[in-house]
Amino acid sequence: MKDVQFIPKPYINYVESGSFRWSSPSNIALVKYWGKKEHQIPENPSVSFTLDNCKTTTTLHFSKKENNEKLSFDVFLDGEKKDDFKPKIETFFKRIEIYLPFLRDYHFKIETSNTFPHSSGIASSASGMSALAMCLMSIEKLLIESDITLSEVERSLNNDFFIQKASFLARLGSGSACRSLEGDLVVWGKHDEIDGSSDLFGVKYPFEVHNNFKNYQDTILLVDKGEKQVSSTVGHNLMHGHPFAQERFKQAHKNLSSLITVFKEGDLDAFIEIVESEALTLHAMMMTSMPYFILMKPNTLEIINKIWAFRQTTNSKVCFTLDAGANVHVLYPECECEKVCEFIKNELVAFCQKGEYIDDKIGFGAKQL
Ligand code: DP6
Repeated sequence: MKDVQFIPKPYINYVESGSFRWSSPSNIALVKYWGKKEHQIPENPSVSFTLDNCKTTTTLHFSKKENNEKLSFDVFLDGEKKDDFKPKIETFFKRIEIYLPFLRDYHFKIETSNTFPHSSGIASSASGMSALAMCLMSIEKLLIESDITLSEVERSLNNDFFIQKASFLARLGSGSACRSLEGDLVVWGKHDEIDGSSDLFGVKYPFEVHNNFKNYQDTILLVDKGEKQVSSTVGHNLMHGHPFAQERFKQAHKNLSSLITVFKEGDLDAFIEIVESEALTLHAMMMTSMPYFILMKPNTLEIINKIWAFRQTTNSKVCFTLDAGANVHVLYPECECEKVCEFIKNELVAFCQKGEYIDDKIGFGAKQL
Protein backbone atom coordinates (compact mmCIF):
# COMPACT_ATOMS: atom_id res chain seq x y z
CA MET A 1 0.00 0.00 0.00
CA LYS A 2 1.34 3.41 -0.98
CA ASP A 3 0.06 6.71 0.32
CA VAL A 4 1.17 8.90 -2.55
CA GLN A 5 0.53 12.15 -0.72
CA PHE A 6 3.56 11.35 1.48
CA ILE A 7 5.95 10.40 -1.32
CA PRO A 8 8.16 13.47 -1.87
CA LYS A 9 9.08 15.10 -5.17
CA PRO A 10 12.76 14.63 -6.12
CA TYR A 11 14.99 16.42 -3.61
CA ILE A 12 16.56 19.66 -4.80
CA ASN A 13 19.33 20.28 -2.25
CA TYR A 14 22.61 18.51 -1.60
CA VAL A 15 23.41 18.12 2.08
CA GLU A 16 26.62 16.39 3.19
CA SER A 17 26.01 15.94 6.91
CA GLY A 18 24.37 17.41 9.98
CA SER A 19 22.31 16.61 13.03
CA PHE A 20 18.87 17.34 14.50
CA ARG A 21 17.54 16.96 18.02
CA TRP A 22 13.93 16.54 19.07
CA SER A 23 12.17 15.56 22.25
CA SER A 24 8.79 13.86 22.09
CA PRO A 25 6.48 12.70 24.88
CA SER A 26 4.57 9.55 25.60
CA ASN A 27 0.76 9.63 25.57
CA ILE A 28 -2.02 7.89 27.46
CA ALA A 29 -5.04 6.62 25.55
CA LEU A 30 -8.53 7.32 26.91
CA VAL A 31 -10.21 5.31 24.14
CA LYS A 32 -7.77 2.52 23.37
CA TYR A 33 -6.18 1.35 20.15
CA TRP A 34 -6.19 -2.45 20.35
CA GLY A 35 -6.29 -4.38 17.11
CA LYS A 36 -4.76 -3.41 13.79
CA LYS A 37 -4.89 -4.36 10.13
CA GLU A 38 -1.99 -4.58 7.71
CA HIS A 39 0.28 -1.53 7.38
CA GLN A 40 -0.41 -0.31 10.90
CA ILE A 41 -4.03 0.65 10.19
CA PRO A 42 -6.03 0.67 13.43
CA GLU A 43 -9.24 -1.35 13.74
CA ASN A 44 -10.86 1.51 15.65
CA PRO A 45 -10.31 5.18 16.39
CA SER A 46 -8.56 6.18 19.63
CA VAL A 47 -7.97 9.40 21.56
CA SER A 48 -5.21 10.25 24.02
CA PHE A 49 -3.85 12.88 26.35
CA THR A 50 -0.34 13.83 25.33
CA LEU A 51 1.98 13.63 28.36
CA ASP A 52 4.59 16.12 29.44
CA ASN A 53 7.35 14.64 31.64
CA CYS A 54 7.63 11.16 30.18
CA LYS A 55 9.58 11.79 27.03
CA THR A 56 12.41 10.69 24.76
CA THR A 57 15.11 12.99 23.46
CA THR A 58 16.77 11.88 20.25
CA THR A 59 19.70 13.35 18.36
CA LEU A 60 20.02 12.10 14.82
CA HIS A 61 23.42 12.60 13.17
CA PHE A 62 23.59 11.96 9.45
CA SER A 63 26.51 11.82 7.04
CA LYS A 64 26.52 11.04 3.34
CA LYS A 65 27.92 7.62 2.49
CA GLU A 66 29.67 6.18 -0.58
CA ASN A 67 26.90 4.05 -1.95
CA ASN A 68 23.24 3.64 -1.24
CA GLU A 69 22.95 -0.12 -1.29
CA LYS A 70 22.23 -0.71 2.38
CA LEU A 71 20.56 1.01 5.29
CA SER A 72 23.29 1.95 7.75
CA PHE A 73 22.84 3.18 11.32
CA ASP A 74 23.92 2.77 14.95
CA VAL A 75 21.77 3.28 18.03
CA PHE A 76 22.87 4.52 21.46
CA LEU A 77 20.77 4.69 24.62
CA ASP A 78 22.25 7.01 27.27
CA GLY A 79 25.59 6.85 25.46
CA GLU A 80 25.67 3.05 25.32
CA LYS A 81 25.54 1.22 21.99
CA LYS A 82 22.32 -0.78 21.74
CA ASP A 83 22.45 -3.37 18.98
CA ASP A 84 19.31 -5.03 20.34
CA PHE A 85 17.33 -1.90 19.34
CA LYS A 86 18.42 -2.24 15.72
CA PRO A 87 15.92 -4.79 14.36
CA LYS A 88 12.93 -2.62 15.35
CA ILE A 89 14.48 0.45 13.76
CA GLU A 90 15.54 -1.50 10.67
CA THR A 91 11.91 -2.65 10.22
CA PHE A 92 10.78 0.95 10.71
CA PHE A 93 13.27 2.27 8.12
CA LYS A 94 12.23 -0.38 5.61
CA ARG A 95 8.57 0.50 6.05
CA ILE A 96 9.19 4.21 5.54
CA GLU A 97 11.95 4.35 2.94
CA ILE A 98 9.49 4.77 0.10
CA TYR A 99 8.34 7.99 1.84
CA LEU A 100 11.90 9.10 2.74
CA PRO A 101 14.05 8.12 -0.25
CA PHE A 102 17.16 9.67 1.34
CA LEU A 103 17.40 6.92 3.98
CA ARG A 104 19.94 4.83 2.04
CA ASP A 105 22.08 7.86 1.15
CA TYR A 106 23.29 8.49 4.71
CA HIS A 107 24.81 6.75 7.67
CA PHE A 108 22.85 7.63 10.82
CA LYS A 109 23.90 7.78 14.43
CA ILE A 110 20.83 7.74 16.65
CA GLU A 111 21.46 8.94 20.20
CA THR A 112 18.50 8.60 22.47
CA SER A 113 17.58 8.95 26.14
CA ASN A 114 14.35 8.74 28.11
CA THR A 115 13.30 10.79 31.12
CA PHE A 116 11.77 7.65 32.61
CA PRO A 117 13.85 4.64 33.60
CA HIS A 118 14.20 2.10 30.78
CA SER A 119 13.03 -0.74 33.00
CA SER A 120 9.99 1.12 34.35
CA GLY A 121 7.46 -0.86 32.35
CA ILE A 122 6.58 2.36 30.53
CA ALA A 123 6.65 1.82 26.80
CA SER A 124 9.17 4.09 25.11
CA SER A 125 7.97 3.21 21.62
CA ALA A 126 5.49 6.12 21.35
CA SER A 127 7.97 8.77 22.49
CA GLY A 128 10.96 7.11 20.79
CA MET A 129 9.40 6.57 17.38
CA SER A 130 7.82 10.02 17.32
CA ALA A 131 11.10 11.75 18.25
CA LEU A 132 12.92 9.82 15.52
CA ALA A 133 10.19 10.64 12.98
CA MET A 134 10.57 14.37 13.74
CA CYS A 135 14.37 14.19 13.30
CA LEU A 136 13.90 12.44 9.94
CA MET A 137 11.40 15.08 8.83
CA SER A 138 13.90 17.82 9.71
CA ILE A 139 16.39 16.20 7.32
CA GLU A 140 13.77 15.98 4.59
CA LYS A 141 12.94 19.64 5.11
CA LEU A 142 16.60 20.56 4.44
CA LEU A 143 16.53 18.53 1.23
CA ILE A 144 13.39 20.13 -0.17
CA GLU A 145 13.48 23.69 1.13
CA SER A 146 13.94 26.25 -1.61
CA ASP A 147 15.25 29.83 -1.42
CA ILE A 148 11.94 31.32 -2.43
CA THR A 149 10.47 33.37 0.40
CA LEU A 150 7.20 31.89 1.54
CA SER A 151 4.11 33.73 2.68
CA GLU A 152 2.77 33.27 6.20
CA VAL A 153 0.00 30.99 4.88
CA GLU A 154 2.40 28.83 2.87
CA ARG A 155 4.68 28.48 5.86
CA SER A 156 1.84 27.34 8.07
CA LEU A 157 0.66 24.88 5.41
CA ASN A 158 4.21 23.51 5.20
CA ASN A 159 4.30 23.23 8.95
CA ASP A 160 0.99 21.34 9.06
CA PHE A 161 2.27 18.94 6.42
CA PHE A 162 5.53 18.45 8.36
CA ILE A 163 3.63 17.36 11.50
CA GLN A 164 1.17 15.26 9.52
CA LYS A 165 3.87 13.38 7.66
CA ALA A 166 5.87 12.94 10.89
CA SER A 167 2.76 11.44 12.51
CA PHE A 168 2.22 9.22 9.45
CA LEU A 169 5.83 7.97 9.70
CA ALA A 170 5.69 7.54 13.49
CA ARG A 171 2.59 5.37 13.06
CA LEU A 172 4.59 3.02 10.86
CA GLY A 173 7.10 2.69 13.73
CA SER A 174 4.51 2.16 16.45
CA GLY A 175 0.79 2.90 16.13
CA SER A 176 0.35 4.92 19.29
CA ALA A 177 3.44 7.03 18.43
CA CYS A 178 1.39 8.95 15.86
CA ARG A 179 -0.55 10.50 18.77
CA SER A 180 2.54 12.01 20.47
CA LEU A 181 3.52 14.90 18.20
CA GLU A 182 1.00 17.47 19.32
CA GLY A 183 -1.22 18.12 22.31
CA ASP A 184 -3.17 18.21 24.36
CA LEU A 185 -5.69 15.72 22.97
CA VAL A 186 -5.03 13.73 19.79
CA VAL A 187 -7.36 11.51 17.78
CA TRP A 188 -6.08 8.73 15.55
CA GLY A 189 -8.39 6.66 13.35
CA LYS A 190 -11.32 7.60 11.15
CA HIS A 191 -14.39 8.65 13.13
CA ASP A 192 -17.59 9.84 11.43
CA GLU A 193 -18.15 12.79 13.75
CA ILE A 194 -14.56 14.07 13.67
CA ASP A 195 -13.74 15.87 10.44
CA GLY A 196 -10.19 15.36 9.28
CA SER A 197 -9.68 12.24 11.42
CA SER A 198 -7.66 9.58 9.63
CA ASP A 199 -6.38 6.03 9.98
CA LEU A 200 -3.05 7.27 8.60
CA PHE A 201 -2.03 9.89 11.19
CA GLY A 202 -3.07 11.58 14.41
CA VAL A 203 -4.91 14.92 14.39
CA LYS A 204 -5.41 17.46 17.15
CA TYR A 205 -8.82 17.00 18.76
CA PRO A 206 -10.78 19.70 16.91
CA PHE A 207 -13.68 20.54 19.26
CA GLU A 208 -14.27 22.53 22.40
CA VAL A 209 -12.71 21.23 25.61
CA HIS A 210 -14.04 22.37 28.99
CA ASN A 211 -11.65 23.92 31.51
CA ASN A 212 -12.13 20.89 33.78
CA PHE A 213 -9.82 19.00 31.44
CA LYS A 214 -7.13 21.68 31.16
CA ASN A 215 -3.84 20.60 32.68
CA TYR A 216 -5.27 17.21 33.65
CA GLN A 217 -2.89 15.24 35.87
CA ASP A 218 -1.57 11.70 35.39
CA THR A 219 0.40 9.98 38.15
CA ILE A 220 1.82 6.72 36.85
CA LEU A 221 2.10 4.05 39.54
CA LEU A 222 4.85 1.56 38.71
CA VAL A 223 3.36 -1.71 39.85
CA ASP A 224 5.51 -3.94 37.67
CA LYS A 225 8.69 -2.62 36.14
CA GLY A 226 9.63 -5.78 34.26
CA GLU A 227 9.65 -6.38 30.53
CA LYS A 228 6.22 -6.46 28.93
CA GLN A 229 4.62 -9.89 29.33
CA VAL A 230 2.88 -9.57 25.96
CA SER A 231 4.48 -7.48 23.21
CA SER A 232 2.13 -5.06 21.49
CA THR A 233 2.49 -6.95 18.20
CA VAL A 234 1.37 -10.19 19.83
CA GLY A 235 -1.37 -8.33 21.70
CA HIS A 236 -2.85 -6.64 18.63
CA ASN A 237 -2.77 -9.95 16.78
CA LEU A 238 -4.94 -11.52 19.47
CA MET A 239 -7.79 -9.41 18.13
CA HIS A 240 -7.76 -11.29 14.83
CA GLY A 241 -10.60 -13.79 15.02
CA HIS A 242 -11.37 -12.75 18.60
CA PRO A 243 -15.04 -13.66 19.28
CA PHE A 244 -15.86 -10.20 20.71
CA ALA A 245 -13.65 -8.08 18.43
CA GLN A 246 -16.34 -6.57 16.21
CA GLU A 247 -18.43 -5.44 19.19
CA ARG A 248 -15.33 -3.96 20.80
CA PHE A 249 -14.49 -1.93 17.69
CA LYS A 250 -18.07 -0.58 17.60
CA GLN A 251 -17.85 0.30 21.28
CA ALA A 252 -14.69 2.35 20.69
CA HIS A 253 -16.54 4.45 18.05
CA LYS A 254 -19.42 4.96 20.46
CA ASN A 255 -17.17 5.89 23.38
CA LEU A 256 -15.34 8.45 21.27
CA SER A 257 -18.70 9.95 20.21
CA SER A 258 -19.76 10.20 23.86
CA LEU A 259 -16.46 11.85 24.80
CA ILE A 260 -17.18 14.72 22.40
CA THR A 261 -20.07 15.86 24.63
CA VAL A 262 -18.14 15.00 27.81
CA PHE A 263 -15.20 17.19 26.79
CA LYS A 264 -17.49 20.04 25.81
CA GLU A 265 -19.59 19.98 28.98
CA GLY A 266 -16.79 19.08 31.39
CA ASP A 267 -18.79 16.11 32.65
CA LEU A 268 -16.23 14.41 34.90
CA ASP A 269 -18.54 11.59 36.05
CA ALA A 270 -19.23 10.52 32.46
CA PHE A 271 -15.50 10.87 31.69
CA ILE A 272 -14.62 8.49 34.53
CA GLU A 273 -17.17 5.95 33.36
CA ILE A 274 -15.84 5.87 29.79
CA VAL A 275 -12.15 5.93 30.67
CA GLU A 276 -12.29 3.18 33.30
CA SER A 277 -14.53 1.04 31.13
CA GLU A 278 -12.08 1.40 28.22
CA ALA A 279 -9.19 0.25 30.43
CA LEU A 280 -11.09 -2.75 31.77
CA THR A 281 -12.35 -3.66 28.29
CA LEU A 282 -8.78 -3.67 26.96
CA HIS A 283 -7.83 -6.14 29.68
CA ALA A 284 -11.04 -8.12 29.20
CA MET A 285 -10.14 -8.57 25.53
CA MET A 286 -6.81 -10.05 26.57
CA MET A 287 -8.40 -12.33 29.14
CA THR A 288 -10.85 -13.65 26.53
CA SER A 289 -8.47 -14.15 23.60
CA MET A 290 -6.76 -17.39 22.65
CA PRO A 291 -4.15 -17.66 24.04
CA TYR A 292 -5.39 -15.64 27.05
CA PHE A 293 -3.45 -13.35 29.38
CA ILE A 294 -3.98 -11.60 32.68
CA LEU A 295 -1.75 -8.54 32.59
CA MET A 296 -2.92 -6.99 35.84
CA LYS A 297 -1.09 -7.90 39.04
CA PRO A 298 -2.71 -8.25 42.47
CA ASN A 299 -1.48 -4.74 43.30
CA THR A 300 -3.17 -3.33 40.18
CA LEU A 301 -6.49 -4.52 41.62
CA GLU A 302 -5.64 -3.24 45.11
CA ILE A 303 -5.05 0.21 43.61
CA ILE A 304 -8.28 0.14 41.58
CA ASN A 305 -10.29 -0.79 44.67
CA LYS A 306 -8.62 1.95 46.73
CA ILE A 307 -9.44 4.51 44.02
CA TRP A 308 -13.08 3.44 43.98
CA ALA A 309 -13.31 3.59 47.78
CA PHE A 310 -11.66 7.02 47.85
CA ARG A 311 -14.09 8.32 45.24
CA GLN A 312 -17.04 7.07 47.21
CA THR A 313 -15.98 8.62 50.50
CA THR A 314 -14.64 11.94 49.23
CA ASN A 315 -16.57 12.71 46.04
CA SER A 316 -13.23 13.07 44.27
CA LYS A 317 -13.16 12.78 40.45
CA VAL A 318 -9.96 10.73 40.42
CA CYS A 319 -10.00 7.70 38.09
CA PHE A 320 -7.63 5.18 36.54
CA THR A 321 -6.62 3.86 33.18
CA LEU A 322 -4.31 1.04 32.17
CA ASP A 323 -2.19 0.16 29.18
CA ALA A 324 -1.38 -3.41 28.22
CA GLY A 325 0.39 -4.05 31.52
CA ALA A 326 0.11 -3.83 35.30
CA ASN A 327 1.00 -0.16 35.84
CA VAL A 328 -1.83 2.21 36.75
CA HIS A 329 -2.29 5.73 35.38
CA VAL A 330 -4.14 7.78 38.01
CA LEU A 331 -5.97 10.63 36.26
CA TYR A 332 -7.41 13.68 38.06
CA PRO A 333 -8.29 17.33 37.48
CA GLU A 334 -5.69 19.94 38.37
CA CYS A 335 -7.86 21.41 41.16
CA GLU A 336 -7.65 18.10 43.03
CA CYS A 337 -3.84 17.94 42.95
CA GLU A 338 -3.23 18.41 46.64
CA LYS A 339 -5.90 16.05 47.86
CA VAL A 340 -5.15 13.27 45.34
CA CYS A 341 -1.37 13.50 45.85
CA GLU A 342 -1.91 13.02 49.59
CA PHE A 343 -4.13 10.01 48.85
CA ILE A 344 -1.54 8.54 46.48
CA LYS A 345 1.26 8.94 49.03
CA ASN A 346 -0.74 7.61 51.95
CA GLU A 347 -2.63 4.79 50.28
CA LEU A 348 -1.32 3.82 46.85
CA VAL A 349 2.47 4.09 46.89
CA ALA A 350 2.64 0.98 49.10
CA PHE A 351 1.45 -1.04 46.09
CA CYS A 352 4.17 0.24 43.74
CA GLN A 353 7.36 -1.70 43.11
CA LYS A 354 9.97 -0.10 45.35
CA GLY A 355 7.43 2.66 46.04
CA GLU A 356 8.14 4.23 42.63
CA TYR A 357 5.78 6.43 40.66
CA ILE A 358 6.00 9.26 38.10
CA ASP A 359 4.08 12.53 38.33
CA ASP A 360 2.97 13.65 34.91
CA LYS A 361 0.31 15.83 33.31
CA ILE A 362 -1.06 16.85 29.94
CA GLY A 363 1.57 18.18 27.55
CA PHE A 364 1.81 19.69 24.10
CA GLY A 365 3.90 17.38 21.98
CA ALA A 366 7.28 17.25 20.27
CA LYS A 367 9.83 20.06 20.53
CA GLN A 368 12.95 20.79 18.53
CA LEU A 369 15.96 21.38 20.80
C1 DP6 B 1 -2.58 -0.57 24.92
O1 DP6 B 1 1.25 1.49 19.74
O2 DP6 B 1 2.47 -0.08 21.27
O3 DP6 B 1 -1.15 1.31 24.64
O4 DP6 B 1 1.44 -0.35 16.78
O5 DP6 B 1 2.22 -2.56 17.61
O6 DP6 B 1 3.56 -0.50 18.12
P1 DP6 B 1 2.18 -1.09 17.85
O7 DP6 B 1 1.35 -0.95 19.20
P2 DP6 B 1 1.35 0.15 20.32
O8 DP6 B 1 -0.03 -0.23 21.07
C2 DP6 B 1 -0.44 0.50 22.16
C3 DP6 B 1 -1.70 -0.01 22.69
C4 DP6 B 1 -2.17 0.57 24.01
C5 DP6 B 1 -3.39 1.45 23.79
C6 DP6 B 1 -3.16 2.79 23.14
O9 DP6 B 1 -2.12 3.41 23.37
O10 DP6 B 1 -4.09 3.23 22.43
